[in-house]
Amino acid sequence: MKRIVVLLLLITGLAAVMYFQHSTGKVMAASSDGPQFTADGKLILPVGYRKWIFIGAPLTPNGLNNGKAGFPEYHNVYIQEKNLEGYQKNGVFPEGTVIVKELVLLRKGDYPDGSADSPSGRGFGEGEFNGMDVTVKDSKRFAKTNGWGFFNFGHHALPYEPTSTESPATECAGCHQAGAAKTDMTWVDFYPVLRGNN
Ligand code: HEC
Repeated sequence: MKRIVVLLLLITGLAAVMYFQHSTGKVMAASSDGPQFTADGKLILPVGYRKWIFIGAPLTPNGLNNGKAGFPEYHNVYIQEKNLEGYQKNGVFPEGTVIVKELVLLRKGDYPDGSADSPSGRGFGEGEFNGMDVTVKDSKRFAKTNGWGFFNFGHHALPYEPTSTESPATECAGCHQAGAAKTDMTWVDFYPVLRGNN
């Protein structure tokens, strides 16, 4: 009798743990499914993006910018699979697309240009996370800036800001508009998977 009770308790416990994991998993999936805004229109820091599709990493190191690069880091860019597929199919991004650009410092270098020796040769590698810029497609909400909103969650080490107010067009959208208006405000030339090699 005792054994049966213990067995029953074990089964109930296991079921509870499985249910809990399942439900928290669902919450995470929902919150990373599309852009989330606060009641006053701030964008909430996206979560789970490092598990999205990684589409490329433009690099603008100090060594190539007289030591004064605006962004002396790798720009790791992520997008959700369904939005990548939407672009590949239609040449425009679906409504609700979120593109995350996470800045990542170079690994500590051995040379003045920031490069380092490694078993694979002299070059650059990624160090610490150092900031985040995000673009969101919502043609109604961001009608004034070609249907995209621009957000900065800090240019510094983790943690990033929990929310971000839309950046003024003069700080972000203007430059994207000048150089990438024909490709849905996104610099697709930097990303092989968006250039059509899919
Ligand atoms: C002077 C021009 C310029 C300004 C200003 C600018 N960007 Fe960009 N942005 C670029 C270029 C060029 C790329 C692609 C190459 C790279 O990352 O170096 C890019 C890439 C991005 C990407 C990755 C997706 C894409 O379009 O390639 C995001 C997200 C982004 N920028 C957000 C922002 C935000 C947010 C701001 C303002 C805080 C901003 N940008 C300001 C030129 C600019």
